[in-house]
Amino acid sequence: MHIVLTGGTGLIGRHLCRRWLSQGHRLTVWSRDPAQVPRRCGEGVRGIARLEDIAPSDQVDAVVNLAGAPIADRPWTASRRHLLWASRITLTEQLLAWLETREQRPEVLVSGSAVGWYGDGGERELTEASPPVKEDFASQLCIAWEETAQRAQALGLRVVLVRTGLVLAGDGGFLSRLRLPFKLGLGGPLGDGRQWMPWVHIEDHIALIDFLLQRTDASGPYNACAPEPVRNRAFAKALGRALHRPAILPVPALLLKAGLGELSTLLLGGQRARPARLLEEGFTFRFDDLQSALDDLSERL
Ligand SMILES: NC(=O)c1ccc[n+]([C@@H]2O[C@H](COP(=O)([O-])OP(=O)(O)OC[C@H]3O[C@@H](n4cnc5c(N)ncnc54)[C@H](OP(=O)(O)O)[C@@H]3O)[C@@H](O)[C@H]2O)c1
Repeated sequence: MHIVLTGGTGLIGRHLCRRWLSQGHRLTVWSRDPAQVPRRCGEGVRGIARLEDIAPSDQVDAVVNLAGAPIADRPWTASRRHLLWASRITLTEQLLAWLETREQRPEVLVSGSAVGWYGDGGERELTEASPPVKEDFASQLCIAWEETAQRAQALGLRVVLVRTGLVLAGDGGFLSRLRLPFKLGLGGPLGDGRQWMPWVHIEDHIALIDFLLQRTDASGPYNACAPEPVRNRAFAKALGRALHRPAILPVPALLLKAGLGELSTLLLGGQRARPARLLEEGFTFRFDDLQSALDDLSERL
């Protein structure tokens, strides 16, 4: 299969490339810095600066769209919001414009999204049948991102939307940021720690994206998180246990709100999300218990 990726140099993309290279697929990554692609994604992966560098005669079987500026890196000032929006929605529009020009079109577009699509869901259990609960900037971003990707259906593609939870990995992402404060014994719950955290082990995340890509009857949104979300307080405790450190120092909600503005909604709110459709369609999670996922990754943190 020839798979074209955006965001292929990121945490999830790099792991996907590793898996698909080992399975013998041909990979092309559209990147702002194509020269870095073979080093980050694997020898043999082609980096391109423009989609037009793919010849019209070169068959493309699948597109995986994950590019986007990091959402939790800094406060959502007006210019940051613009960048978060352009790097997902404008980029996806460019992808659609390119797909439209092609005579030969891929069978499937797998496009990124996040459980943040629902906004802060409080205690409500959220499946793919649930509407957004409380809109904030992050949910509006995900809603627009999904709606844009969905337009590829009119071009004849099957469209899969991956509503990703917090991806737990030993080589980047959320856990890498928590590593230092927790190792220093400064970890703990955020706010009152009651907010739900849908999480997914990177190994399961890669496997479920591959599952959805291969299954020709899969389309629409999928919650990509383990079947057992935990509250933030329980997450902090489990991470402390995996790193053999106490996790008792709470970070006051007021401090987060003052320092981060609306970005704090991402940390103080949450989603009790269930991967209902993946389970119905027969996907099996290897890590469905948080402690076993963290224990597996702790050696690499
Ligand atoms: N990791 C998680 O826990 C998580 C959870 C929910 C949703 N997601 C979403 O899933 C997607 C992939 O996640 P990830 O963790 O693999 O992301 P990541 O490591 O931050 O990588 C995202 C990729 O997007 C591209 N990118 C970054 N800034 C950009 C910009 N300003 N304009 C255009 N492209 C830009 C980069 O590719 P180049 O440098 O090659 O251009 C980068 O490698 C992201 O959109 C993320 O929001 C992730």
